[in-house]
Amino acid sequence: MKTLDTASVRLDFPILSELVNGKPVVFLDSAASSQKPAQVLQAMQRVYRATYANVHRGVYTFSERGTELYDQARAKIAQFIGAPRPETIVFTRNATEALNLVAYSYGRAFLRPGDEIVITELEHHANFVPWMVLAKERGLALKFIPLTAEGMLDLSRLDELITPKTRLVSFAQVSNVLGTIIDPAPIIARARSVGATIVVDGSQAVPHMPVNVQDMDCDFYAFSGHKMLGPTGIGVLYGKLHLLEAMPPFLTGGDMITSVTFERATWNDPPLKFEAGTPSFVEAIGLGAAVDYLSALGMDAVRAHERAIVEYALERMSEVPGTRIFGPTDPAIRGGVLTFALNGIHPHDLATLLDREGIAIRAGHHCAQPLHIRLGVNATARASFYVYTETREIDALVEGIYKAKKTLRK
Ligand SMILES: Cc1ncc(COP(=O)(O)O)c(C=O)c1O
Repeated sequence: MKTLDTASVRLDFPILSELVNGKPVVFLDSAASSQKPAQVLQAMQRVYRATYANVHRGVYTFSERGTELYDQARAKIAQFIGAPRPETIVFTRNATEALNLVAYSYGRAFLRPGDEIVITELEHHANFVPWMVLAKERGLALKFIPLTAEGMLDLSRLDELITPKTRLVSFAQVSNVLGTIIDPAPIIARARSVGATIVVDGSQAVPHMPVNVQDMDCDFYAFSGHKMLGPTGIGVLYGKLHLLEAMPPFLTGGDMITSVTFERATWNDPPLKFEAGTPSFVEAIGLGAAVDYLSALGMDAVRAHERAIVEYALERMSEVPGTRIFGPTDPAIRGGVLTFALNGIHPHDLATLLDREGIAIRAGHHCAQPLHIRLGVNATARASFYVYTETREIDALVEGIYKAKKTLRK
């Protein structure tokens, strides 16, 4: 298997040579949003500089070229996640919008009062609030697969929670807080056995490991471009074609229709049915370039690199007195995320002091408040890793933590 040469990877990321507070930046917040390689920036700039015009509208060269590049990006992304065809890829603004699309369009058309939705206790708000709102609006029950003390899902409760009343099951493939890598197979098998629709939030999976939606056999799969080296403003919803065809539109307007009279409108086929208005096509082309970049690195190599980094980080962080590390301690089932709390130091204070050293980490609830309620803490600190992260940056983090402890006399 290929391994990552982080020294040469880092040369592609101009931002990584910036100084923060006079120190070389140590960027440990890629789970929130990753940095972008020059290849992605250049792909987008090429469109703006050489061939920019709105897609799907013009019959002139710029517009036709833009449309072609947009279609190519869709095909690349389909291939990257093992989707059967480009038509199953709907472009959205982000994972949040993709999940809302399913909740609004599929949920409101096909779920009935008394039906049940099952999610998990570790969800990001993006895969929590849309189901909560839908459940309240439609008189549905919302149930949760609980966590074990190790930060895994307690699958012994699956048969009791997912029943013939369950119409939809949704879960994150990788937790953005605990780093837990969920094995989708047992959840999907149980959901299938009762005929429930399966939605997977792949926001922390697609950027970091090989994903194949057909092998997984989910019905919908959502993720964001900005966490996988792509630009902001572009996300993806994969959906099985027969479901996308059966669903009503989410947003309506230009591009998503075939015809409009004064009395009625008819809808375009998927995916355009779900892409009302001018799409973020330059961003989609940028995401296509990000997929090319990741594919050239090799997703097995990306995963192996992050596994090695997280293993090193677990080791180094466990040396720091007064540290509580959340989530599984086995790097084999842990993504490149390390969430922790330090005795007597608020995560925000820690993040502020680390920033003085040029080190960027996230502090707070990471958009997973219910999970923090379960963990019994208000806030945590999170360091997260990606293709450009090096072990010396973990060393800098640990050193920074010792310095912060000294400053705060803890
Ligand atoms: C697991 C998970 N799901 C969903 C999201 C939402 O992504 P976005 O804010 O790009 O819509 C995130 C972002 O942090 C996430 O980590």
